[in-house]
Amino acid sequence: MKLLVSGAAGFIGSTFVELRVREHGDDVTVLDALTYAGRQENLREVESDIRFVAGAIEDPDAVADAIGDAEAIVNFAAETHVDRSIADPFAFSVTNGQGTHVLLEAARERGLRYVQVSTDEVYGSIETGSFTETSPLQPSSPYSATKTGADLLVLSYYHTYGLETLVARGSNNYGPRQYPEKLIPLMILNAMAGDHLPVYGDGKNVRNWLYVEDFGRGIGHVLAHGKPGEVYNCGGPDECENIAVVQRILQLTGADDSLIEYVTDRLGHDRRYSLSSEKLAALGWRAQTRFADGLERTVAWYRDNAWWWEPIRSGAYREYYERHYGRSLKS
Ligand code: NAD
Ligand code: TYD
Repeated sequence: MKLLVSGAAGFIGSTFVELRVREHGDDVTVLDALTYAGRQENLREVESDIRFVAGAIEDPDAVADAIGDAEAIVNFAAETHVDRSIADPFAFSVTNGQGTHVLLEAARERGLRYVQVSTDEVYGSIETGSFTETSPLQPSSPYSATKTGADLLVLSYYHTYGLETLVARGSNNYGPRQYPEKLIPLMILNAMAGDHLPVYGDGKNVRNWLYVEDFGRGIGHVLAHGKPGEVYNCGGPDECENIAVVQRILQLTGADDSLIEYVTDRLGHDRRYSLSSEKLAALGWRAQTRFADGLERTVAWYRDNAWWWEPIRSGAYREYYERHYGRSLKS
């Protein structure tokens, strides 16, 4: 299949492209603006098999240049970090809102199938039980609010124009090549370096962890088998409190518990996310990787791939942390 995959120089998109090239022989063009989170190194395993276009999804010329004779668009491009959306929300409306809209117009002009990669965060927080695709949308952060707006726009293109649009909502992903501003890679790298591990609030917030390859295959499933105009949840098999994730990382890296530091809670911090994935399971998808195994593999990957994270660790996320929390990451 000929695919335009936007935002695939990032964590999940690059995994998706690897899977599509290796397992399906797809002809892929990647469009990516190479923000702080996007790196061409993420695509190095498939670089000779794909076409790469540097450009932003909110730029109609860049989209037209990249789209070629694609049969479908899969959109990963987004500003993705909740903490950044609290500090600098406007970038989120531009990429997540306007960018999605420009891609949808390009799909409409050409009659292309369109898959929007979205998140469980559009449903907000849930104390008990799990969200289904018909649960109310109650996003809490500028990140999740702009993702919700994008989802609604995507679905409106089905209802209004009959375009084959679909939405795949994933729970928290983890795995190789995740930017070390998110909980798991940040904690792994800090533990390996002997830096503090900043746990927000009481550390009892719960996330529903999904190994990145499982999400990549879930999105592929929605692309191939999903019904236009529908939303599909794609949740991980396990839920875990943040503090338990951090303690397991300390064990796997051999670091000391004293590195844990409880810090000021995130503004508007969602307590728990949980997705029911029965609708996608009925189409034949199931997550394969349990959290204990996936976390061990992820720690091993960061241990073995310092070439990937060394340039990042010296830079942007540290400055961000210091500005936000008013203290250094060094112990
Ligand atoms: P990421 O931050 O690792 O990568 C985002 C990519 O988008 C980067 O390559 C970046 O350069 C690119 N990008 C940003 N703005 C752009 C723009 N204006 N034009 C073109 N490219 C742009 O993100 P990720 O974790 O891989 O997430 C990918 C998608 O999956 C996002 O839409 C996110 O909302 C969704 N999602 C993420 C998770 C998670 O746990 N990480 C869970 C569910 C859903
Ligand atoms: P994160 O990886 O930012 O994903 P999201 O907010 O999209 O779920 O955070 C996961 C959880 O970990 C969330 O409850 C916030 C918490 N957290 C910390 O306690 N410390 C940290 O340094 C980070 C980045 C996150």
